[in-house]
Amino acid sequence: MESGKERFSILQVIRSRSSIRTFARESVPKETMEELGKLLTRRDRGPFGNICRFGLIDSSLYPQSDLGSISTYGVIKNPYGYLVGAIQKADRSLVDYGYLFQRILLEATRLGLGTCWLGGTFRPEKIASLFPLQPGEIIPAVSPFGIPAEKRSLIDGVLRWGASSKIRKPWGQLFYDASGSSLKEGDCPLFQDALEAVRLAPSAMNRQPWRVVIEGRNAHFFLDTKEDRKYPVRFTELDLGIAMYHFEAVLQEESIQGKWEFSPPRTSYGHPEWEYTASWSS
Ligand SMILES: Cc1cc2nc3c(=O)[nH]c(=O)nc-3n(C[C@H](O)[C@H](O)[C@H](O)COP(=O)(O)O)c2cc1C
Repeated sequence: MESGKERFSILQVIRSRSSIRTFARESVPKETMEELGKLLTRRDRGPFGNICRFGLIDSSLYPQSDLGSISTYGVIKNPYGYLVGAIQKADRSLVDYGYLFQRILLEATRLGLGTCWLGGTFRPEKIASLFPLQPGEIIPAVSPFGIPAEKRSLIDGVLRWGASSKIRKPWGQLFYDASGSSLKEGDCPLFQDALEAVRLAPSAMNRQPWRVVIEGRNAHFFLDTKEDRKYPVRFTELDLGIAMYHFEAVLQEESIQGKWEFSPPRTSYGHPEWEYTASWSS
């Protein structure tokens, strides 16, 4: 949680976040709930122009047994509530959902709340009974929220980072230059922190399917379809959206201007198994 007036950088928030599946049997303070509520009323579009609808299921309004049956396999314990959302089925709407929902989850992390993306282990029909859907909408993923059982402050999370608690692929397997050669940390000062934020992004089953090629001041995002085949397609689109949000949020904080474009490069940079998603140009 943020202490005093200190505001953590988005990269610190990203470093401190990890999936929380067990929550304390403790109420979320009223002011925190109000702040959380404010995050959900923004009706922004994702980079591909789709608008998503978000909402909050507050445990104090429902019997605990109702909330308990939202997640399957007993993965989630004692959630205070659920962050939920819906989107129309449309071209790349899942990428937009990933992008917009991750923005909410990072702000929730900043508020000291634990969260966990659930794309598979939840009951959509149960959510829909509490968050009614409009025609044509689907619920791609939800997240429980609450006070983490193992209480860690945001700064603890940042410090724990020093002990390297996250299991992620190294730079060389994720980021490349225009000749198709691997990049290592420090090779690309302009995008150093933004790429690190991509590397730390959560992904379904921690598959980390994103690949990024840096060409001058442009960053081309691809999906490695070798990873894609291992799990449902819709998750990889969510993963890409999450990574795109991490990338953009860091650059925004560093005042590096740019925008997303859909402009497929003429080459696959020596990796025909990659599928193009979007490019950032600054
Ligand atoms: C799109 C997406 C779907 C996910 N679905 C589930 C899920 O159904 N159940 C679950 O326990 N975790 C789920 N996760 C959480 C991932 O397993 C987790 O983010 C990943 O292992 C990395 O760990 P971290 O979030 O602690 O950094 C999902 C994550 C993403 C991004």
